[in-house]
Amino acid sequence: MTHQKVLILDFGGQYNQLIARRVREQGVFCDLKSSDMTLEEIKAYNPIGIIFTGGPSSVYAEGSPLIDKGVFSLGVPVLGLCYGCQLTAHLLGGTVGHTDTSEYGKTEVVYEKSPLTKDIPEKAVCWMSHTDSVKALPAGFKKLAHTDNCPYAAFGDEARKIYGVQFHPEVNHTQYGTQLLHNFLYEVCGAAGDWTMSNFVANQIKALKEKIGDRKVLCAMSGGVDSAVAATLIHKAVGDNLTCVFVDHGLLRKYEADEVMSVFKDGLKMNLIKVDAGAVFLKKLKGKSDPEKKRKIIGKQFIRTFEKEAKKIGKVDFLVQGTIYPDVIESGKDKSAVIKSHHNVGGLPSVVNFEEIIEPLRDLFKDEVRKVGFELGLPKSVVMRQPFPGPGLAIRIMGAVTEEKLETLRDSDYILREEIAKAGLDEQIWQYFTVITNSKTVGVQGDFRTYENVIAIRAVTSLDAMTADWARIPDSVLEAISNRIVNEVKHANRIVYDITSKPPATIEWE
Ligand code: XMP
Repeated sequence: MTHQKVLILDFGGQYNQLIARRVREQGVFCDLKSSDMTLEEIKAYNPIGIIFTGGPSSVYAEGSPLIDKGVFSLGVPVLGLCYGCQLTAHLLGGTVGHTDTSEYGKTEVVYEKSPLTKDIPEKAVCWMSHTDSVKALPAGFKKLAHTDNCPYAAFGDEARKIYGVQFHPEVNHTQYGTQLLHNFLYEVCGAAGDWTMSNFVANQIKALKEKIGDRKVLCAMSGGVDSAVAATLIHKAVGDNLTCVFVDHGLLRKYEADEVMSVFKDGLKMNLIKVDAGAVFLKKLKGKSDPEKKRKIIGKQFIRTFEKEAKKIGKVDFLVQGTIYPDVIESGKDKSAVIKSHHNVGGLPSVVNFEEIIEPLRDLFKDEVRKVGFELGLPKSVVMRQPFPGPGLAIRIMGAVTEEKLETLRDSDYILREEIAKAGLDEQIWQYFTVITNSKTVGVQGDFRTYENVIAIRAVTSLDAMTADWARIPDSVLEAISNRIVNEVKHANRIVYDITSKPPATIEWE
């Protein structure tokens, strides 16, 4: 790759991935690496700048993560944030001590003029979270900001291009935090802003062409964003040497399977094989109502179906995985490939005869994957698709799955999606879908008594699906959804709204 790189050394803070995303958003590539990198490894990485993250430790405590002091003599600009700023002061001869009053939350900060604080007003709000702070600066450093409780909220040595910031510029609560990071990257490190998704696409296509040549690649398409974008990139690079297999397990949402075919086979002319396995999956699921059993059956059947298809194709050189950067970071090993654990890819390497795994998106955050998708001309419905569980609609039907319930679920879910889009809420809500509860209630339609399914609406806001809150959808939108479902969908006569957060509930019902 030809782009410049910033190295973010991870000291264990909670906002570290966010720092990396903020740097990328400024058009500068960066990697988040463990702080135990050696000086030699840092040199070999060849960064244009280094950022030390925050972390829970105290620089004086035994066993706290440190760094080779030589890092300050490489001639590479350094920005220490929170713990990273205390570490910088500590290693260069300043004093760090316990603060009598811990500072948490929004605090007013007063800035002084410097390359780091360019275009930031004298007074602004920042986000503090610390109990230690810098009491005396190392030689050569000057104060660049202070708060009521923190005399050195920011400091720097302009000649050596070493800076420390006690607060968190990466969080939204810090006004001008993005500007501060921008200043470090562009005013201090001299960044060129060469990390753009159009550059990524061009470079990646070139690199994939060179790597793959005229060898054969196999990709399992799920309809999800990652596999769709990965396949499209590879297709642009090697055309028909890529074969995609799309197992339609009959548990996708309304029109989704058709859309995959129309976008990728008819539109992009991909060599895409669709396996219609809905009937087999339904047969295997018949009468099974235990959630874990349902998941296992689907996972197993998926692998079996794929294996059968892979056998027909024979040996391939590469198997595509839609691994993205958070998977790489979270695995704790940034060197080796991670096999995603969910069923659509988890078991595949064991049933495909291949030489090597290829992961074209392993450097990208999710928002970057979506940008690449748009760059490649994929439609919004594919690029902005909500997260969707591998076992599909089967885990949104409580109890046993039947064709009739699938139809009711698909139709009600489709109406929900239409109304959410009409209300302009589709990009604010993380996931929204309907669920068929395992209960029926009495209703009245026309002059007739009905006894039909209770449909639940599940809609949540979230940043990463680890925690979630129920979405506050306006009453008028809920009313429209409810009216339309009970009037237009067969076998549904009552709508309820799930108002539970995660935890204690999960996003999916099973
Ligand atoms: P829960 O229900 O655990 O879901 O709060 C968290 C996120 O994961 C999705 N999910 C899955 N994704 N395979 C997947 O690929 C699965 O088996 C699976 N189960 C849950 C869920 O939709 C939510 O985004």
